[in-house]
Amino acid sequence: MNIAILGAGAMAKGLAIQFSRSGYNVVLGARDRNKAADAAADIGRGVQAASFRGAASAADIIILATPYAAASDVLGLAGDLNGKIIIDITNPMTPDFSGLAIGHTSSAAEEIQESRARCAGGESVQHDFRASADPAQARRETADRVLRGRQRRSE
Ligand SMILES: NC(=O)c1ccc[n+]([C@@H]2O[C@H](COP(=O)([O-])OP(=O)(O)OC[C@H]3O[C@@H](n4cnc5c(N)ncnc54)[C@H](OP(=O)(O)O)[C@@H]3O)[C@@H](O)[C@H]2O)c1
Repeated sequence: MNIAILGAGAMAKGLAIQFSRSGYNVVLGARDRNKAADAAADIGRGVQAASFRGAASAADIIILATPYAAASDVLGLAGDLNGKIIIDITNPMTPDFSGLAIGHTSSAAEEIQESRARCAGGESVQHDFRASADPAQARRETADRVLRGRQRRSE
């Protein structure tokens, strides 16, 4: 299983360590290839570095680990996402972290799915079930959101 992590910051590195420890092939993608290479070298364990497109091209699963504001552009740079699973870990904060940029009538996953995955045919699933007192219900709601997104794209 090949996992691409788009971003080479704190979260990307933490996830890359855990996935590589678990035996997955991990490629870090970044806008600055040198930063991805530095992060990969810090981690070791066979973690590779590439551009966003290079990382995404061979991936079965893509993890989006950039700021939310960059998410759509980064997925655009990642090339053909058809059939790939996209896991969005971004928190849709305002640039000054004073609050949520969205999240009252929509979600980061829905917005990203609308903006990029519609063209690419991928699915985007938001990460954060922790806010719910009922994780099973949260999972059902996420599945419903994905299905609604699919339905909107097919209309
Ligand atoms: N789900 C969770 O539990 C959880 C927890 C913490 C954080 N998060 C989210 O995870 C994401 C990453 O957080 P982090 O702490 O890893 O941040 P970080 O250390 O600042 O790393 C951000 C990464 O995104 C890249 N980036 C920033 N702006 C970009 C742009 N405009 N275009 C392309 N790449 C860009 C950075 O590249 P450069 O070095 O070139 O700027 C860096 O590789 C954020 O959205 C954050 O809200 C989620």
